[in-house]
Amino acid sequence: MKKFNAAIIGCGAVHNVHVNAISSLNNTQLCAVADTDTAIADDAARRYDCRSYHSFSDVIADPQIDTVHICTPHHLHSSMAIEAMRAGKHVLTEKPMAITAEECREMIRVSDQSGRQLGVCFQNRYNTTSIFIKELLRSGKAGHILAAKASVTWLRKADYYLQSDWRGTWEKEGGGIMINQAIHTLDLLQWFIGNPVRIKGTIDNRMLGDVIEVEDTAEATIIFENGIHAFFYATNSYHDSPVELELVCENAVIKLSGALTIQYSNGDTENVRDVHPKTGEKAYYGVGHISLIDDFYSSLAQGRPFPTDGRQGIEAVRLVRGLYSSSRSGKWIDL
Ligand SMILES: NC(=O)c1ccc[n+]([C@@H]2O[C@H](COP(=O)([O-])OP(=O)(O)OC[C@H]3O[C@@H](n4cnc5c(N)ncnc54)[C@H](O)[C@@H]3O)[C@@H](O)[C@H]2O)c1
Repeated sequence: MKKFNAAIIGCGAVHNVHVNAISSLNNTQLCAVADTDTAIADDAARRYDCRSYHSFSDVIADPQIDTVHICTPHHLHSSMAIEAMRAGKHVLTEKPMAITAEECREMIRVSDQSGRQLGVCFQNRYNTTSIFIKELLRSGKAGHILAAKASVTWLRKADYYLQSDWRGTWEKEGGGIMINQAIHTLDLLQWFIGNPVRIKGTIDNRMLGDVIEVEDTAEATIIFENGIHAFFYATNSYHDSPVELELVCENAVIKLSGALTIQYSNGDTENVRDVHPKTGEKAYYGVGHISLIDDFYSSLAQGRPFPTDGRQGIEAVRLVRGLYSSSRSGKWIDL
């Protein structure tokens, strides 16, 4: 069986989740890691017994590397993905796909042109609860969605932002809670409901005014092509409580708050739980990364398109950028 040779670019907080996922696969091996912090790259390479690179261009010049996992700050995603695909590598980028929709469109164009796969790490789509909701909606059992709301109420203190030179900045993070943390839930909302067409909302910096330029709090109303309205709320100044998402449907109310509860109008109730790692600093990332990365490599091995691709990844970026424009203008934004 062919083994894919993977390289991870950026050995910071999230890279470990990619290492663990790759090491759980039979058809993939970690071939190289890269970081501009040479000590970080060399240390990671020693731990994983693979090659160390200090520059991205050296990674994509390595003919043995088949796939590149982009785990760098947001402003680098688009240029790295484009260069890697042009060099013949398949790309799996961490979210957000990029900072702007224009960058995302260019990434999709290069993926189409080069025939290289472009995957986006929206691992929450692979949660048991998310798959259950998607299937339930598809089955018609819950009926049409009538209304929706979602909230992300977490805590990111000043030290989280001060640890790095990119978080909390418009230039390198591209925004605050919406483009970084809440983007997963925005993605789920549009994945469940359908194509978003308009957004109006506001962003604000309530608690970290002297630390970050970007928002720590946001609210939005989103209108979808099928006429459904959704209300969204997010803050990084609460505490890390479970993401909440509610879909009021014709025959059921679907409520996600850690676990999933479906309350049918005939009185029946169903409960579904996600599997979570029991321990570990990053346990709250969930196990979705392993399933997503497994699916990415299965797609490559089977020559089928990876489902969470650029055309999926761009939608949440369009929503975030639309919200930022709306907050500036005070107007509805057509997406
Ligand atoms: N899917 C998730 O749940 C999840 C969770 C956490 C982070 N993320 C995403 O992962 C990405 C990285 O986040 P993080 O928290 O690991 O960041 P981090 O700051 O901890 O790590 C980033 C690393 O990239 C390196 N780097 C910077 N520029 C580089 C370059 N040009 N070439 C090579 N390496 C470079 C830095 O030295 C650093 O080690 C972000 O897009 C973030 O949003 C996703």
